[in-house]
Amino acid sequence: LAEWTPVGELSEALKDREVLVRGRAQTMRAVGKKMAFVVVRERGFTVQCVVTAKPEAVSPQMVKFVAGLSRESIVDVHGVVSVPGVPIKGASQQVEIQVSKLYCVSRAIPTLPISIEDAARSEQEIEEASQAGEQLVRVNQDTRLNYRVLDIRTPANQGIFRIQSQVGTIFRQFLLSEGFVEIHSPKLIAGSSEGGSAVFKLDYKGHPACLAQSPQLHKQMAVCGDFGRVFEIGPVFRAEDSYTHRHLCEFIGLDVEMEIKKHYSEVMGVVGRLFVAIFDGLNANCSTELAAVARQYPFEPLKYLPETLRLTFEEGVQMLKAAGFEVDPYGDLNTEAERKLGQLVLEKYDTEFYILHRYPLAVRPFYTMPCYDDSKYSNSFDVFIRGEEIISGAQRIHVPELLSERARACGIDANTISTYIDSFRYGAPPHGGFGVGLERVVMLFCGLNNIRKTSLFPRDPQRIAP
Ligand code: 4AD
Repeated sequence: LAEWTPVGELSEALKDREVLVRGRAQTMRAVGKKMAFVVVRERGFTVQCVVTAKPEAVSPQMVKFVAGLSRESIVDVHGVVSVPGVPIKGASQQVEIQVSKLYCVSRAIPTLPISIEDAARSEQEIEEASQAGEQLVRVNQDTRLNYRVLDIRTPANQGIFRIQSQVGTIFRQFLLSEGFVEIHSPKLIAGSSEGGSAVFKLDYKGHPACLAQSPQLHKQMAVCGDFGRVFEIGPVFRAEDSYTHRHLCEFIGLDVEMEIKKHYSEVMGVVGRLFVAIFDGLNANCSTELAAVARQYPFEPLKYLPETLRLTFEEGVQMLKAAGFEVDPYGDLNTEAERKLGQLVLEKYDTEFYILHRYPLAVRPFYTMPCYDDSKYSNSFDVFIRGEEIISGAQRIHVPELLSERARACGIDANTISTYIDSFRYGAPPHGGFGVGLERVVMLFCGLNNIRKTSLFPRDPQRIAP
């Protein structure tokens, strides 16, 4: 019996071998009544299958049936691998299958709301085709998201979500190898974990509650519960009103929390090594996926240093000022200032990935430890890729009195987080950590322009379906 062969593994090495392939009928073309071509796609790879009427095997009805298949139907193809003398256009694999049997496993409706070929075109291809006078359908973002189950079949989207999966895998493997324990914190919690108003409120059996904006409080409690070093990969919820290219109402948080022995630079050390491992791993393991993304959405590979650059907030402010950019030394950087600083850092240090630390205390969450030498600043940091924030982190306050005071100063009702504050009364190690937005990492590593491209089924202020 022939073996099931993934389309991506079909090559000249299999010449004359019988194979069995399952995939989607991407395009069909009849040549007279005796021959039909069907391009079969599986996981972003495509192969041309040739159906020729032959008395002993394939009937003319079979040729007609194949030519009339609806696009995106799932087919099982049985045949022999052949190598044509000329390059094959319109398929990724440079071999063909001479079909002996073809079964339709699941039929798609005849008219699809979007065509995968249209959805897979790059801006340049659209431009060239329209100049050549071709009638083209431009698939806009809302339409893509409405029919996401079709849209995610494009090679670029297949690449994006396989890259996303790798980021999570490397994150987990790296941290496990460094002695971290994976935890799962509750997503239904009594009060806001990050402060502010971006909270989805709900009724918890008659008590006010909300969806967790982060695992912040519980990951800290886990460290105080003697786990020492913990991480979590899970959904977090933000009732953002901002309709921007980088905000979602639900995203995947990659969270880390660890004991600090001496200085919060230990946490920044983990960030640096972890992300170099992620970037190296993506470049080594995902070259096909990255190429598929770049084919539709061209981008330059990320520039990063083996030893992650760290700058203080004050140094950043100085660099911006020297470039004629006015910023408040005790305020936060706005998006424009972050972008500008990203450019300046790239010019000076040749890296698009760096850590900015010692932020002004006033712009950080209530649980952030003030600097010991100057309480206008804090032991905290943000991390940037291509001038946009992907991580925020800090040393936390582990002294309950100071924590209550800071919560009050930030307008948070200490009663709603009393169990959190109490957990530092039983002996709490100095600790810190960070939170990463998975969708932002993939968006920025691949130089994409919108976070909706890296969320499988994005949730934003205007979208909760599909
Ligand atoms: O900066 P944030 O809000 O920090 C925290 O949640 C802290 N508890 C982290 C910590 O351990 N100190 O969120 C962390 C990261 C951001 O850097 C950003 O990458 C991402 O989460 N993020 C969002 N991603 C998509 N949509 C949103 N609305 C996001 N808000 C934050």
